[in-house]
Amino acid sequence: MASFQRSAVFSLVLIMSLLWGFSQAKDVLVGGKTDAWKIPSSESDSLNKWAGNARFLIGDSLVWKYDGQKDSVLQVNKEAYAACNTTNPIEEYKDGNTKVKLDRSGPFYFISGAEGHCEKGQKSCRGGSISKAYTRRSSCSLSG
Ligand SMILES: *[C@@H]1O[C@H](CO)[C@@H](O)[C@H](O)[C@H]1NC(C)=O
Repeated sequence: MASFQRSAVFSLVLIMSLLWGFSQAKDVLVGGKTDAWKIPSSESDSLNKWAGNARFLIGDSLVWKYDGQKDSVLQVNKEAYAACNTTNPIEEYKDGNTKVKLDRSGPFYFISGAEGHCEKGQKSCRGGSISKAYTRRSSCSLSG
């Protein structure tokens, strides 16, 4: 009887910690470090490489830290992302400490608003399969 009670309590704790783990939204620093929002120095340094290996869930937030005097984060559509078109972004952030919640599944496209930066590869496509399940691969096939 005593051992039955112990194992019942143990199961309950385990289930609760699993639910807790799944329901906790994360803040994810883009690029994994504070100075990552900049022109990548190489292909292996690019943000899409980082994004392809990072895992997200709906409810997680992407966080950018950068110098708001010099740079910005533009959330754009696919066409603007491909063309580095900064004219008409969906959202523009320039406070130097930007947080965007991934509140839906589907691709998210971000480019730098600083002139010439996007063309040099400062952009990030968060791939097509953010979903309730963990996702590994970015399905963005745009190069750069
Ligand atoms: C950029 O986007 C704007 C508005 O969406 C459009 O009017 C303009 O022609 C685009 N510019 C280029 C260079 O594609």
